[in-house]
Amino acid sequence: MKKISIVGAGRVGETTAQILAEEELCREVALYDVRDDVPEGVALDIYQTAPFFEFDCRVSGSNDPQILADSDLVVVTAGFPRKPGMSRSDVLAANVKIIDEVTDHIVRYASDAIVLVVSNPVDTLTYRIAQRTGWPRERVFGQAGVLDASRMAAFIAQETGFSSLDITTLVLGGHGDTMVPMPRYCTINGVPITHFIAPERLEAIIERTRKGGAEILALRKNSSAYDAPAASVAAMIDAISNNRRRLMPTVALLDGEYGERDVAMGVPCILDESGLAAVVELDLDARERADFDRSVAAVREDIARLAELG
Ligand code: LAC
Repeated sequence: MKKISIVGAGRVGETTAQILAEEELCREVALYDVRDDVPEGVALDIYQTAPFFEFDCRVSGSNDPQILADSDLVVVTAGFPRKPGMSRSDVLAANVKIIDEVTDHIVRYASDAIVLVVSNPVDTLTYRIAQRTGWPRERVFGQAGVLDASRMAAFIAQETGFSSLDITTLVLGGHGDTMVPMPRYCTINGVPITHFIAPERLEAIIERTRKGGAEILALRKNSSAYDAPAASVAAMIDAISNNRRRLMPTVALLDGEYGERDVAMGVPCILDESGLAAVVELDLDARERADFDRSVAAVREDIARLAELG
């Protein structure tokens, strides 16, 4: 990819830009933000790390949305983060306004781009951007499950002491308290985690994963998580940029898969240079199905609120 733009030069946007530049996942990173001068400052600061990390990817920032022009991919991180005690849905009304404006900029200046949504509530805002652009789901999808799975992997590594390199995890559903960690698909280098972790410990890990974002917010106090979220976004971009065909949980518009349509939810997807190449359907057991249905219902509640918000 030649150019990747990031909307929102907050902590997630900035950290993502730094990783993209360092790993040279494109030739040019552009940051757009409405706060006066901030994107220029962030871009310059990152660009000045070039000699240390030995990259020559260009990094720029602007308050002018025209900076999005000719992007191959746009990452949307703009919006209000939640404060301790708030749910991701509590920022929906405030963030829809911002996201609608951002969407119009993307349509105007980067009409061929892939859009990767990170702003919360991510499932509902991915749905909103898909609706407003009318673009196919191959080009409009969101990041949630890669982060949630990385949290689950961290907790399993801490619990078992195994190298995180050997841990595979999967989390589906909406990016909220109803997310669906899938222990049946979690392994230590192919060995089911139930071989190493007792049922009640596993339940505790599932619960902690569901609340993983809130845990960090409560500890950091004045900031949501951003290191792992940015790394998750970069991992998805790496899969797309290098046409890897990786299987990654992705917030996708469902079109009959899992018995659902007209909703955006975290499901396993194949990511390649086209963006979201395919949704992969898994057979869910009774508990997974019930958890997934509950998660769909929670996301649908937020989607229903969109109509009231205009
Ligand atoms: C989290 C926020 C970014 O999960 O949704 O940390």
